[in-house]
Amino acid sequence: MASSNIYDEIVEEYSQAKSNPYKQYVEEPTFWSCAGKDFSGKTVLDLACGSGHYSRQFRIHGAHQVVGVDISNEMILEAKKLGDPASSDKEGGLTYITADATDQGAYMPLNKDGFDLVTSQYLFPYANTKDELLKMCKAAFSALKSGGSYVGVTTFLDSDNPPKAQSAILGYEMTWDGSNDGVALHDGVGVLITLLDNKGQKTVSFPNYLWSKETTSKFLKDVGFSVVEWHKETDGVQRKNDLECPQDSSLVEANKWITAAREDFGLCGYFVAYK
Ligand SMILES: C[S@@+](CC[C@H](N)C(=O)[O-])C[C@H]1O[C@@H](n2cnc3c(N)ncnc32)[C@H](O)[C@@H]1O
Repeated sequence: MASSNIYDEIVEEYSQAKSNPYKQYVEEPTFWSCAGKDFSGKTVLDLACGSGHYSRQFRIHGAHQVVGVDISNEMILEAKKLGDPASSDKEGGLTYITADATDQGAYMPLNKDGFDLVTSQYLFPYANTKDELLKMCKAAFSALKSGGSYVGVTTFLDSDNPPKAQSAILGYEMTWDGSNDGVALHDGVGVLITLLDNKGQKTVSFPNYLWSKETTSKFLKDVGFSVVEWHKETDGVQRKNDLECPQDSSLVEANKWITAAREDFGLCGYFVAYK
C-alpha cells in the first residue's frame, strides 16, 4: 500500500495550498479543458480526492453521482464537512469513502455498472513501486464503463527537463536519497518535497515518487486503455474560451506561473486515457 497518512496531519495546510496561484491559474483551467464541462447525469469516481475540491466541482458541473475515495481519513472527514454544493439526490449525490484507491471492494458496490468518468489528481506520485503504479492504473480501468475515460493530473519526471531541487516562485524544496552526493533523479525516484511559505520558511513535507511519462503511459496501456493522450498546460489564448477561465487581466499572471512550472518543476502531466 502506498504510504500517505502524512495527509492526516496536514489537512489544513493542504486546503490552503488550493489557493496557490499555480493551481488557480494553471492546474484547474487545464484540468477542466481536458475533462470537459458538462457532466449532467454522469457518474464520476474521484480517486485520491483529498478534501474533495474536484469532487465538489464535478457536482457543480452537473454530475449525478460523485464518489470520492482517499486513503486519509482526516481528508475524508474534511471533505464531508465541506458538504455537497449541489442539491443531493437519493440515488446519486456525493459520497466519500476512506480507502486505498486500489481497494475496489470498498467503493465499487456504490456503482456496480461502472463509472462514466474516473479522475485522479496526484494519485500516481504515491505509488512507491511499479507494481503499485500498475495496480492504480488497473483500479481506474476496471472502475470505468466501457467507453468511459480516465482524466487525471500527475507530476512526472522528464529527464530532459528534470525538476530543480528548489524553487522560490513555486515555493518548494526537494531532496531524494543521494541528492547531496550527486545521485541523479531517475524513474520512480522517491523524493521528499517541503513546501515553503511566502517568507521562504518550511511548512510541511511529504514523500512523492516521480514516474516518467513513458512508464505511466505504458502501464495505462498495459491495463487496457486504448489511447492515452497527454496535454500541455492550457495557455492564455485557449483559456479565454474556458468555462473556468480567469479574467483576461489574469492571463499575464497565468503565463508567469506556466513558465515557472515548466522551468522549475519540469512539468505536471494532464492525461486522458480512453477505455
Ligand atoms: C496531493 S493530494 C491531492 C488531493 C486532491 N486530488 C486534490 O487535488 O485536491 C494527494 C492525496 O492522495 C491521497 N492518497 C495517497 N495515496 C493514496 C492511495 N493509495 N489511495 C487513495 N488516496 C491516496 C492522499 O491521502 C492525499 O489526500
